[in-house]
Amino acid sequence: MGAHPMRRRTLMPASLVTEPREDHWLDSDRLAPATARRRTSDFLSAYGLDALQGDAITVVSELVTNAVQYGSPRLGRVLLTLRAPNREQLHVEIRDFGPTPIPEPRDAALDDEAGRGLQIVSTLARNWGVDYRGDHGKVVWAILADQPTE
Ligand SMILES: Nc1ncnc2c1ncn2[C@@H]1O[C@H](COP(=O)(O)OP(=O)(O)OP(=O)(O)O)[C@@H](O)[C@H]1O
Ligand SMILES: [Mg+2]
Repeated sequence: MGAHPMRRRTLMPASLVTEPREDHWLDSDRLAPATARRRTSDFLSAYGLDALQGDAITVVSELVTNAVQYGSPRLGRVLLTLRAPNREQLHVEIRDFGPTPIPEPRDAALDDEAGRGLQIVSTLARNWGVDYRGDHGKVVWAILADQPTE
């Protein structure tokens, strides 16, 4: 009597299988923000999230610019991850490989030329934050959502 053939079943939860996700490695140079904007725009269009286009493009622009400017200036690349949990929100993560300094919103005075990027991010994003990877950089993340949650 032959053995029953093993039936292989995937044990991945359905949410992991179906959650749209893209990873994009970007050279850490002045073209990175433009590439990130394009990738983000295409992702949102592909998954029916065009209502988030304006805010998401602004947030991604600021975060990728920061990652290139402060995070990985001479360290090669940054990683842009785009996810759409439940196909309702955009979760964006920008990984850089610089140990310092720390991304923190600044208290920009009226005549300061810069220091407003993270303020803009915190205004447009449902939530945002930083996950530190010790000497191996950090992930700055933001969640964009069209509808307010109750
Ligand atoms: N990825 C990062 N790695 C390390 N430090 C960061 C990172 N992003 C931001 N910072 C720090 O947080 C500060 C505030 O960032 P923010 O984007 O608000 O202002 P800015 O980049 O200085 O000016 P602006 O964005 O208005 O041109 C930066 O000056 C920098 O010191
Ligand atoms: Mg900035």
